[in-house]
Amino acid sequence: MVELKTPGEIEAMAAAGAVVARALTAVRDAADVGVRLVDLDEVARGVLKDAGAASPFLGYQPSFANSPYPGVVCLSVNDAVLHGIPSRYALQDGDLLSVDCGATLDGWTGDAAISFCVGRTGEQDARLLERTAAALQAGIDAAVPGARVGDVSAAVGAVARTAGYGLSTDFGGHGVGHTMHEDPHIANDGRAGRGLRLRAGLTIAIEPWFLAGGVNAYRVDDDGWTLRSTDGSRGAHFEHTIAVTEDGPRILTR
Ligand code: MF3
Ligand code: CO
Repeated sequence: MVELKTPGEIEAMAAAGAVVARALTAVRDAADVGVRLVDLDEVARGVLKDAGAASPFLGYQPSFANSPYPGVVCLSVNDAVLHGIPSRYALQDGDLLSVDCGATLDGWTGDAAISFCVGRTGEQDARLLERTAAALQAGIDAAVPGARVGDVSAAVGAVARTAGYGLSTDFGGHGVGHTMHEDPHIANDGRAGRGLRLRAGLTIAIEPWFLAGGVNAYRVDDDGWTLRSTDGSRGAHFEHTIAVTEDGPRILTR
């Protein structure tokens, strides 16, 4: 079931989204050569705690996982692209880090992700980061009243295909509201003009993740969570929670 939110409810979601944005900024600022992933999880925990927000990630166990998620952020390095568990790994110069974070405040949830390089940014990484962020923006731009979910999916997928990146329709975007994962599902590729019609009040997360190697094959680590390219190529992931409004898409996790 798809729930439309009132303007007041969208304001409340923007407050939750602001906590997510603060946590991502704090993690980005703290991510440096030699810093351990577990320490970045602690940074995010501190931001959520100070805001009085809960983590929708901590203890989460969707059907694909065989254990509850142990962190408040997903930290995926290099060939890992989604759902990386915060470990004692210490970041190295040139690592590509994807950070995914959620927050629940006053019963409303925000969900967002950023990717960046620690220290030096390689040329190929710079292009991957730029194109994945551009796909997120293209998806957001397509999320206007009267358009369809397929328009968002097609906008995201077109950027990956043009760039020659590996694209999977597993683990795409989703409705967000009282909980992190609601209807509708928003695949990272699809056919324009198909699917649910978007209306003002719809709140969704759009989250492209691309693999630089051009192949969409991934595997999951023994931890049951971490998604990795099979060819060792790097991945990037960007996500915002947005509201469809009569005035156009509004980013709630800025
Ligand atoms: N942004 C991710 C998603 O929408 C967050 C889920 S990761 C988990 O699927 F750790 F919470 F499971
Ligand atoms: Co999400």
